[in-house]
Amino acid sequence: MTKLILRDVEIHKGFLDRAAQTDMLTALRSVVRDAPLFRPDTPYGKPMSVRMTSAGRYGWFSDKRGYRYAGRHPSGCAWPPVPQQVLDIWGKLTGLQRQPDCCLINYYGEGARMGLHQDRDEADFTWPVVSVSLGDPGLFRVGNQTRGGKTESIWLESGDVVVLGGPARLVYHGVDRIKFGAGTLLPRGGRINLTLRVVD
Ligand code: SIN
Ligand code: MN
Repeated sequence: MTKLILRDVEIHKGFLDRAAQTDMLTALRSVVRDAPLFRPDTPYGKPMSVRMTSAGRYGWFSDKRGYRYAGRHPSGCAWPPVPQQVLDIWGKLTGLQRQPDCCLINYYGEGARMGLHQDRDEADFTWPVVSVSLGDPGLFRVGNQTRGGKTESIWLESGDVVVLGGPARLVYHGVDRIKFGAGTLLPRGGRINLTLRVVD
């Protein structure tokens, strides 16, 4: 395991070993069984290229009314609880007593990407955001606290964990592309990213 800092973003390479990744995947399969992946629309009316669902008190949601957190899955059911393995990562890396309210689960299939954005739908930016990568590598781009300017990129691999906290909490970030099929964790390929956030 190595810790890198890229523009105040903490990147813990190889934080989860293969056994921990497999165990996490089993827990996530159960979440997705109860709260199936869906493809939200952006406020501009285009469907997102990632499919997503959530665990926790809140789930992240988007449609033409905007980005927001919702208390229920679009099917009307409650979001499943955040798996303990995920809470353990949050605890180890942040040392916080306060638990995250939301674990957003993004699935990147072939060709999926995520444009540069800030995570700013939460009430209090003093809480960090923790993000876990599983499956195929994804090219993660980090910019600045305001739109524009130079950016830097790094490949995130299965088991890597990123912390956006302090001065990095509001940096622009996104995923340009994934190497579909290059990982060995997901039998049908693709990348999973979990983001843990305190919402209110
Ligand atoms: C996100 O910013 O919501 C996802 C980041 C990632 O997929 O690594
Ligand atoms: Mn984000």
